[in-house]
Amino acid sequence: MTSYENVKQQLTDSPKTWLVTGVAGFIGSNLLETLLKLNQKVVGLDNFATGHQYNLDEVQGLVASEQWQNFSFIEGDIRDYETCQKAVSGADYVLHQAALGSVPRSIADPITTNAANITGFLNMLQAAKEEQVKSFTYAASSSTYGDHPALPKVEENIGNPLSPYAVTKYVNELYASVYARTYDFKTIGLRYFNVFGKRQDPNGAYAAVIPKWTSSMIEGEDVFVNGDGETSRDFCYIDNTVQMNILAATAPDEAKDEVYNVALGDRTTLNDLYVSIQKALAENDVDVSKEPIYRDFRAGDVRHSQADTSKAKTKLGYAPEYRILEGISEAMPWYIEFLSSKS
Ligand SMILES: NC(=O)c1ccc[n+]([C@@H]2O[C@H](COP(=O)([O-])OP(=O)(O)OC[C@H]3O[C@@H](n4cnc5c(N)ncnc54)[C@H](O)[C@@H]3O)[C@@H](O)[C@H]2O)c1
Repeated sequence: MTSYENVKQQLTDSPKTWLVTGVAGFIGSNLLETLLKLNQKVVGLDNFATGHQYNLDEVQGLVASEQWQNFSFIEGDIRDYETCQKAVSGADYVLHQAALGSVPRSIADPITTNAANITGFLNMLQAAKEEQVKSFTYAASSSTYGDHPALPKVEENIGNPLSPYAVTKYVNELYASVYARTYDFKTIGLRYFNVFGKRQDPNGAYAAVIPKWTSSMIEGEDVFVNGDGETSRDFCYIDNTVQMNILAATAPDEAKDEVYNVALGDRTTLNDLYVSIQKALAENDVDVSKEPIYRDFRAGDVRHSQADTSKAKTKLGYAPEYRILEGISEAMPWYIEFLSSKS
């Protein structure tokens, strides 16, 4: 039995109460789906800044009605401390996902990103500490590696942040470590590397590359590559990310007051990614013969990113179940269905 199977069995035998912030978003709604399927009680908090009611509706359709009864939703803002207090009341475990993602969004509007990602984070951290929850796991980011040139990225070695977004995620880590030292409140930060999968929003100016390209290819629109296409990323399928959250939340004390890379440990160039999405869509009978259009590099982007995942494997028993191509194959039918239902 893997560590993950073991933990899932324990949770099923003895269900807990979870707070998932950002529950109407991509990662939050996938956490919700898995937790409800394990018969957990879940409180969700979201202000729909970038999340959607239809993500929650979709989860409702994927779980049994008794499981859906275990979910309660608070529409509210983490920038408001009282809302955080109310949401965390009675929770065993907190999975804090709510934030404004996207490097370009933070460059265009650093003030709003700062308020959600730093003030909102601190509110949640403080409320969780006061509630004395069993664990607090939060979404950190690979953007914290900034301009550090080494590959693969090892948790201890970070560079200078390259965007306001990266600053906010690094400040989260600083607050988390100060809370461990000052209040003995030990948390776990998960440095996500380009997570992808179903319910990741393909719309809007700040969509991530996989949903953006997939939807453009399905709709027959132009696909733009920022730079020469040799920029590379460690793309991580959502189910691996869900696994890490559940392992982190239930980890023993010695594994806490730490940050962990959440990735595959692989590196895929944008050019290779383009071909992989094209092939996976072709297997689903979508005609994708168009060539990509190359344009300038994007400000704030790091050139290459690849994680060393050994810390997560050793200390948390992380065993990713999906490689990138398997994840892409899983995600494509969802995008085809999603886009046809919205048209
Ligand atoms: N997706 C990735 O590849 C990736 C990579 C690194 C880090 N992250 C982090 O993971 C977390 C989840 O990201 P995601 O990809 O699911 O994005 P998402 O935009 O789909 O989800 C974020 C959710 O947070 C909610 N939210 C934002 N501000 C809020 C506020 N003030 N109060 C309450 N709710 C608020 C949004 O409405 C949304 O539902 C974020 O913290 C993000 O920074 C994601």
